[in-house]
Amino acid sequence: MNTNDTHILNNTIMSSAPLEEPARQEFFMEKCHELVEDYMIRKGKAPSFFVATFGCQMNAHDSEKLIGILERIGYTEAEKEVDADFVIFNTCTVRENANQKLYGHLGALKKKKQQSPDMLIGICGCMMQQPETVEVIRDKYKIVDIVFGTFNFYKLAELLYRRLSGDEKQVIEVLSAPEKNVENLPEKRKYAFKSGVNIMYGCNNFCTYCIVPYVRGRERSRTPEDILCEIKRLVSEGCVEIMLLGQNVNSYGINYLDESETINENPDYDFPDLLEDVCKIEGLKRVRFMTSHPKDLSDKLIDVIVRNPKVARHIHLPVQSGSTAILKAMNRRYTKEDYLALVDKIRAKLPDVSLTTDIMIGFPGETEEDIQDTIDVINYAKYDQAFTFIYSIRTGTPAAKMEQLPEELVNERFNRVLEVVRESCSEVSARFEGCTKEVLVETENDHMDGYLTGRMDNNILVHFPGDKSLIGSFVNVKLNEAKGFYYLGEIDEFQ
Ligand code: 5AD
Ligand code: SF4
Repeated sequence: MNTNDTHILNNTIMSSAPLEEPARQEFFMEKCHELVEDYMIRKGKAPSFFVATFGCQMNAHDSEKLIGILERIGYTEAEKEVDADFVIFNTCTVRENANQKLYGHLGALKKKKQQSPDMLIGICGCMMQQPETVEVIRDKYKIVDIVFGTFNFYKLAELLYRRLSGDEKQVIEVLSAPEKNVENLPEKRKYAFKSGVNIMYGCNNFCTYCIVPYVRGRERSRTPEDILCEIKRLVSEGCVEIMLLGQNVNSYGINYLDESETINENPDYDFPDLLEDVCKIEGLKRVRFMTSHPKDLSDKLIDVIVRNPKVARHIHLPVQSGSTAILKAMNRRYTKEDYLALVDKIRAKLPDVSLTTDIMIGFPGETEEDIQDTIDVINYAKYDQAFTFIYSIRTGTPAAKMEQLPEELVNERFNRVLEVVRESCSEVSARFEGCTKEVLVETENDHMDGYLTGRMDNNILVHFPGDKSLIGSFVNVKLNEAKGFYYLGEIDEFQ
């Protein structure tokens, strides 16, 4: 915090060979820890943090790593954002309302920061990968202390140390492309019994509406060794369910982050191979994956799912639109007929599968006929769940330059499609009423005393009476009543 620290830092880094990652971050975690110890002597308690996560599973998983670093440094987790000494926003920018959400939170914290100037605010994640947003933060939100992006979030301790020990009021470091892959950083998992595992980063698909390839960079797969090793460690720590994460898991293995023996021995190693290897890990009970681009979902993958009961009978297969013309304008590289044929093929081999999807309404040029095609697909595919979004213009994407539809028309279409989705999904997801299914118990129920909440392998939630000692274990639950998007049930003692 004083100038001496800066000297120590510079001497240590400069007088010897530069530290390689992750040792460099270990060094800064240690330096921050010393500052936390000073703080504890002065204030009689550890400083607290709150990480607010917006957006997808990737961000949720990145936040677990941020929390791991903060806890290693000596911070303790605050229950609420307003109570924390250090608030970090891990942002999303996939739709405009995600951006607005951040500004709302910053506005709410302004007063608190004025009253307690020691409080720190950090922002990271996808929104910070856009230079114009960083400019807004630099010019208008001086209350923000640290800004970093998706390619250097592992540097949290280093940036925090720079902010606390130097003269910079705002430390901003955003990279435009990944520099290196840093493995083995601390992480604090939200659940002890299940975890996400990144198998790849970035996306090469450039769907014309989507900002992800610009803010998360090109596709980079982790090596099978790194992934399998991480999962084995997680299982040894008590994890029973793993979710393999990638923007498009079906293109796993095309571009690697590092060289590895497996890749050299078997250059054709792909996602189905990885999935099959993951299933071989003893002690692991359930494997999920997300997300599958329909253009790349292979027969080989379906066959691996068929012969491995550990793989959840659930495929998230974002359709976006049912209209071949709109799919072409979106650069999705499949037609309505291709998609429906894929649904048929999956259902023929996996009759008990649950399909879920993402649907976008209001893409430029969409006509009433296109909406009808989307409704056709919803009715044909019989989704258990469909996430429906209003198209949101993202600066820098090709679709942003196309002629946009009037808001009122889009809202009317959205509400209409949402109604179809509600009706179809509640009917489809009710098909298990009366059956007994295996459920992984996740939490105590927030609203009903004495109830637990668990997830079936098709990702649907079930609430049922039970003791919290069951959290983290699999139980058989009789699904008494379908409630639209969830079930009410009871433990089936006879199964
Ligand atoms: N507007 C609205 N929804 C979008 N999505 C991605 N980009 C946009 C956008 N510009 C949706 C897609 C994707 C999901 C994660 O978010 O449906 O599958
Ligand atoms: Fe975005 Fe398309 Fe990549 Fe998905 S596949 S992240 S929608 S560009």
